Amino acid sequence: MNIVINYMKEWRAEQHNLKTSSDIQGIVKSMPDISLKQVHLNVTSLKKYLSEHDTDMLFIYGCDNKVSVVEDIAKLKDKYQKVKIVLHLYDPKSTLLLKCIDLRINDIITLDDTQTIIKEISDFKNTQENFLKNKTHSRQVFGLMSSKGGDGATVMATNFASALSQNSMKRVVIIDMAIPFGDADMYLTQTQNVFDLTDFVNSYDRLDEVLIESMVQRLNTNLHFIPSAKNFQKIMTMKLENYERVIERLKDFYDYVVLDFSSNFDPVSLNIIQSCNHIFMVLSDSLASIRVCNQKINVLQQNKVMPEKIALIENESRVNEDITTGHIEVALDKKIDLFIPFDNNTINESLIQSKPAIRIDPSCKLAKKIVGFSQKWSGNHSNKLENKTIWRNLFKRT
Ligand SMILES: Nc1ncnc2c1ncn2[C@@H]1O[C@H](COP(=O)(O)OP(=O)(O)OP(=O)(O)O)[C@@H](O)[C@H]1O
Ligand SMILES: [Mg+2]
Repeated sequence: MNIVINYMKEWRAEQHNLKTSSDIQGIVKSMPDISLKQVHLNVTSLKKYLSEHDTDMLFIYGCDNKVSVVEDIAKLKDKYQKVKIVLHLYDPKSTLLLKCIDLRINDIITLDDTQTIIKEISDFKNTQENFLKNKTHSRQVFGLMSSKGGDGATVMATNFASALSQNSMKRVVIIDMAIPFGDADMYLTQTQNVFDLTDFVNSYDRLDEVLIESMVQRLNTNLHFIPSAKNFQKIMTMKLENYERVIERLKDFYDYVVLDFSSNFDPVSLNIIQSCNHIFMVLSDSLASIRVCNQKINVLQQNKVMPEKIALIENESRVNEDITTGHIEVALDKKIDLFIPFDNNTINESLIQSKPAIRIDPSCKLAKKIVGFSQKWSGNHSNKLENKTIWRNLFKRT
């Protein structure tokens, strides 16, 4: 959750004996997934700031109880309805409070102690979480797999899930389906969750909202994670028939379920792959990868997976200058839907910090590509399907 504290230009918190955001930052640090920024902007610049920065909550200090500024803030609130704006007024007169109510500015604080601010943040977080839980969900399942092991499915899955969750109105869960050697956690978190996929599968019979909420790992308000099972004893106890049902149940609570598969097909994963709404096959620019990709597409088609369900992602992870995207498309009779550049620095930093690359450096080419791709899929992707149909007509697979 992105929180911004704005002190109006020329206005200094210290002069008014108010807490600075660094004091608040100290306390907010203990709350997971909150980023706090401090800016000094007037209302016009704030408008620009909000258009450029993803902001969930905005505290405004220093309007000096001026009606004209409050009116401008009301306009800002109307324009950015998704942003919760909390206005600090210093010892306001009742006429000003009535004016605020008229202007539908209802979130006013007159105190500046950290407790008041933390309470505002927690209340907002809870309201947002409850709203997200109770709204109707999109129920889309994305299955990601590598053509050959190591082609980059996990890098793509973790970043794609993170990118989908940038839409704060959508709930996303990413599940590490690679058993027992799943490593999606390496790109997502440094904390080990108590529960893993085996716990979900084995508790299917009583897997309700409360149990799901208590077992998932919260990476942020709307991005949750279910790590892969790593304990062999636990894996042996898994009720395989419940595997698919768990995914089906999770769809009731999430807009997007992102599945990071291992590169091997087995009967259980094949069943789940068949039931995915979209399958993303990640391949690298190597002959071996292209060959296996072709074989996998054929296996999927034999198992009644419609070709338009499969999107191809070329990952430049093994740079081979002799093989171009054009070569791959001709060889596979299929269009490449996304190209991910090689970016050792960002990926290494992502592994060091256990954070998705798109959060490490949102401006790098790799991040922009994946975020752009996620936006296409989370929005209306009917155009993509049309393109794929044309492509299919040009190059029919036998
Ligand atoms: N675009 C990229 N730029 C740089 N390094 C990359 C890129 N994509 C993947 N890698 C690196 O390549 C390695 C394999 O990536 P990843 O784990 O995502 O592949 P995978 O297909 O999930 O592998 P597995 O078959 O083990 O599940 C990792 O070390 C990863 O950090
Ligand atoms: Mg993987």
